[in-house]
Amino acid sequence: MKLFKNAEVLLGGELKKADLLIDCGVIRKIAPEIEGDGYDCKGLTVLPGLVDMHVHLREPGFEKKEDIESGSRAAVKGGFTQICCMPNTKPVCDNKVVVSYIVNRAKEAGLCKVHPIGAITEGEKGETLAAIGGMKSAGAVALSDDGVSVTNSALMANAMKYASDFGLKCLCHCEDKSLVDGGVVHEGYYSTLTGLKGSIRAAEDIMIAREICLAESLDLPVHICHVSTYSGVQLIREAKARGVRVTAETCPHYFILTDEAIKDFDPNTKVNPPIREEKDRLAIVEGLKDGTLDCIVTDHAPHHEDDKNVEYNYAAFGISGLETSFALSYTALVRSGTLTLAELTDKMSGHPAQILGLRGGKIAEGEPADFTVVDLNRQWTVDPKKFVSKGKNTPFTGRKVYGSVKYTVVDGEIKYEEK
Ligand code: DOR
Ligand code: ZN
Ligand code: ZN
Repeated sequence: MKLFKNAEVLLGGELKKADLLIDCGVIRKIAPEIEGDGYDCKGLTVLPGLVDMHVHLREPGFEKKEDIESGSRAAVKGGFTQICCMPNTKPVCDNKVVVSYIVNRAKEAGLCKVHPIGAITEGEKGETLAAIGGMKSAGAVALSDDGVSVTNSALMANAMKYASDFGLKCLCHCEDKSLVDGGVVHEGYYSTLTGLKGSIRAAEDIMIAREICLAESLDLPVHICHVSTYSGVQLIREAKARGVRVTAETCPHYFILTDEAIKDFDPNTKVNPPIREEKDRLAIVEGLKDGTLDCIVTDHAPHHEDDKNVEYNYAAFGISGLETSFALSYTALVRSGTLTLAELTDKMSGHPAQILGLRGGKIAEGEPADFTVVDLNRQWTVDPKKFVSKGKNTPFTGRKVYGSVKYTVVDGEIKYEEK
């Protein structure tokens, strides 16, 4: 038995002073005052455990960048109790053996819950559908060829049908490679200024539009990954208004930064899709506000120095995000008055859980004791040297943020405690 006392607890969308009694991994009782000694959470806030439906853990194959244990450690430090990992590993997670391997390695690590995402196509090559049934039985919670789009539309349509037969959704990385054509940043003023090759919004929007068309024609669900364009937000908003079963996510770097960040050639700003203009950033904030964008994910893409600390054109795409996401989002969206704390928590916990059919996202008696205790008033400065992720690649170094994670509790066990 464990008792968490005197906290403000987010219960049914409202903050209430309460004590939480945990027993056998389950929230046994929530009441204004429960007798007994426990962890004093005075001044702290208890949120449903955060859920990140889009991370890269790099194992198997790229353990120099990250492994399941180091990534899980970064997750619990960031307040996440559940994460879903993308299949662009080596070998690609396109069969039940790799799915089982990830599930087992995550159990060994014993930190947060790790849900593998299986590839849509064998080897993420876009040629042949992967063996979906086996992956589902082994524990895959969704399908994605993240890193690339499935170019062949007929194959993608088939993928959506098979996915749906197995109760899974496709999570779509939207990128038309012919338009990107080697671009490394967003095409605009700053690509001209730096001489870095840009890619236009249409490279992303065309694929968003195609996935919407498929979902609409087939009346099947689809989820759009890491939306970065104002026009993409608009496509999704209009599709939702017509009743298309589309959901979507974005990441902190798209609602906080603009392409001005690339002007010093810092490879930590290199990410796919690229960070775009102020008009895009504002539209993404608006999309979060009006519900067009359902989730905030990190797209945690840890890379080794050797892949990042090189000339911009040669650097790998990606940002290490698990340890900064909550504070960045809370600071940018809640302290600014754009979202309420309950709305932010929905984007970072309830909605991703609902979209993938995972248990989680709410604090209630009888629910698994997965929660995150945060100090919303504590200010701290982002310092990648303190990251426990192997990926130190962040464009947010030196940024002052509010909201630090004090405890992350998974199935009633304290898996992270701030020292
Ligand atoms: O920036 C990115 N990094 N975008 C992706 O789509 C893939 C990811 C990675 O795997 O590094
Ligand atoms: Zn992607
Ligand atoms: Zn990704």
